[in-house]
Amino acid sequence: MPRFDVTVAGELNLDLILYGLPEQLPPERELLADRMMLTLGSSSAIVAHNLAALGSRVGFQSRIGDDPLGQIALERLSQAGVDTSRVRHVPGATKSGLTVILHHAAWRNILTYPGTIAELQWDDLDLDYLADARHFHLSSFYLQRALRPRVAELFQRLKSKGLTISLDTNDDPDDRWEDDLEGALRYVDILLPNEREARKIARTDDLESAVRKLAELVPLVVVKLGRDGALAQRGKERFTSPARRVNAVDPVGAGDSFDAGFLHHYLRGADLPTCLEKGNLAGALSTTRPGGTEAFRDAEYRERFLREHAAVSERARS
Ligand SMILES: Nc1ncnc2c1ncn2[C@@H]1O[C@H](COP(=O)(O)OP(=O)(O)OP(=O)(O)O)[C@@H](O)[C@H]1O
Ligand SMILES: [Mg+2]
Repeated sequence: MPRFDVTVAGELNLDLILYGLPEQLPPERELLADRMMLTLGSSSAIVAHNLAALGSRVGFQSRIGDDPLGQIALERLSQAGVDTSRVRHVPGATKSGLTVILHHAAWRNILTYPGTIAELQWDDLDLDYLADARHFHLSSFYLQRALRPRVAELFQRLKSKGLTISLDTNDDPDDRWEDDLEGALRYVDILLPNEREARKIARTDDLESAVRKLAELVPLVVVKLGRDGALAQRGKERFTSPARRVNAVDPVGAGDSFDAGFLHHYLRGADLPTCLEKGNLAGALSTTRPGGTEAFRDAEYRERFLREHAAVSERARS
């Protein structure tokens, strides 16, 4: 039996969120926030963290700088039970990535120092370690600047060892959506974009055409639709599932949490409607606390939320 359910290779950094700043940010003034939160950021790390919080066995590979912020991010992952023994600490001028989010009432500034995120490369990876799993997940294709030219080869190697593969590209910060993704898609079993990403990858403005086109490239396409829940297309079969009604306070990491909820149940053999429902549930849970992992880190809160919402779906079915 493989050591892990899922291995993930990707980026690891913290999010620093400041609340209550003035709407205008004039230069040279000292501007006061009334609340701050330092929380685990980055799509790959959030997926790994939340998969482990749900009970999957997860191995994680990444590159971080030799700095305290990278160390804190690493501790957060380990606390959730993720194996981080193969994360590389690389001393030098490049520090671990950091995102600073200035949270205003109706909008946010998102400032990112990519740091080591863009420097994770083929030589940092231990293929035997990554292959010792049933499934491999990759997030943030477009942020993995150094690894990106070899992602297709990585997928091909892992697939030849019998793993299934999922990919959540997330956004392309350059908004170029170059066609090198297509080589990687040949090996992908589950593609997990949001609606905009699905349209961009398929090069069409129409979501329906995008889903049909993507379903010809990969066996299973799962599109996250924010407050509208999610849909899945497997060949000619279509499944949809509505979002949960919750008091959402922060959408950051909802998509990554959806991935974790969906994959956790998919790997336990659940049918597609159940996987979609569990993905929506995990996405909704994430929105009830700041950042992408706070709602999952608090085990008592997480389990109570999942229990209460499972009871709601049971009642809706009967
Ligand atoms: N306001 C909300 N209420 C309930 N559920 C939500 C809400 N927003 C998001 N979700 C859930 O989270 C899932 C993923 O959210 P979304 O579609 O925003 O993904 P995303 O754009 O990939 O997010 P990310 O910014 O994390 O990459 C949705 O499919 C839905 O189930
Ligand atoms: Mg996303």
